[in-house]
Amino acid sequence: MSGRPRVFVTRPILDEGLAVLRDAGCEVDVWQDDLPPSRADLLARVRGASGVLALLTERIDAGVMDAAGPGLRVVSVHAVGVDNVDVAEATRRGIVVTNTPDVLTETTADFAFALLMAAARRIPEGIDVVRRGEWRTWGPKVLLGTDVHGGTLGVVGFGRIGRAVARRASGFAMRVLRHDPGLPAGPADAEVGATRCEDLRDLLVASDFVSIHVPYGPATHHLIGDAALEAMRPHAILVNTSRGPVVDTDALVRALAAGRIGGAALDVTDPEPLPPDHPLLSFPGCLVVPHVASASRATRTRMSVLAARNLVAVLRGERPPHAVNDEMVARAVALALDRNRGRL
Ligand code: GLV
Repeated sequence: MSGRPRVFVTRPILDEGLAVLRDAGCEVDVWQDDLPPSRADLLARVRGASGVLALLTERIDAGVMDAAGPGLRVVSVHAVGVDNVDVAEATRRGIVVTNTPDVLTETTADFAFALLMAAARRIPEGIDVVRRGEWRTWGPKVLLGTDVHGGTLGVVGFGRIGRAVARRASGFAMRVLRHDPGLPAGPADAEVGATRCEDLRDLLVASDFVSIHVPYGPATHHLIGDAALEAMRPHAILVNTSRGPVVDTDALVRALAAGRIGGAALDVTDPEPLPPDHPLLSFPGCLVVPHVASASRATRTRMSVLAARNLVAVLRGERPPHAVNDEMVARAVALALDRNRGRL
């Protein structure tokens, strides 16, 4: 058996990240398929791993931690959202969970704004018209959309990405409302001229565009359901680049079918992937793309490197750049120093 720490990577990430793991002396096992490992494969392949570098598609829970065994020190998530990891369970076991914030903020905000504009100006519908050979002439009533400039943007969740979207909106002379109950009014609002809405409903009734940027968890499950959609303006467009289940899909289908909102632009859905015959895809004003908001080459490279650095740092007994369960880090640093002395 090799003395090098074993690391399981649940998909081929960009080479730069794999190089960080290999250069650090890890024994790197990469799942070589474009689709995620099955649960059985995941359980088999994590056995004996000191680190797991996981994507958002893998559920990392007690079963995976058991399968890995007591040597598991770190679960490094190649994403900012860590709702696929049982962080409390990891913390109980002294396992550090890390993620990749910051490096994807601007790229994801670009994409949220692109979705907003595409839906507002009906760009996908225009593309379809041309592709289907239905572009017959210039017409004064063809594909009339909603102006983005001068509109009101409601940002739900005013963390890094929400604020970056708000900054883009200020370049379009938009009024920005934001809802984030944990965040009192402050410099982040002043920077983009945002108005804080204590009550989500106040934001929903006044916004032409509603963009979701909350982390997913019990508190945000179906945050946007029947009542929220009912409160939105009839022409308003919902943009979601956070996590699918923040929006109640059935409620959204009902709202679109009844024409209660103007449209939706979704990078994330529930379920994911969305089956091709899903009712959401039957509405011309609902645009769905396959969870790619952070997918620029530069950002995916940075994410792979950061995920790898996080993992290596924990195995080396150093403070990782981004730990989710910070309280674990000091303990894990001490433990890892002990276990990995001389191995990395
Ligand atoms: C992507 O969805 C992420 O959380 O990074």
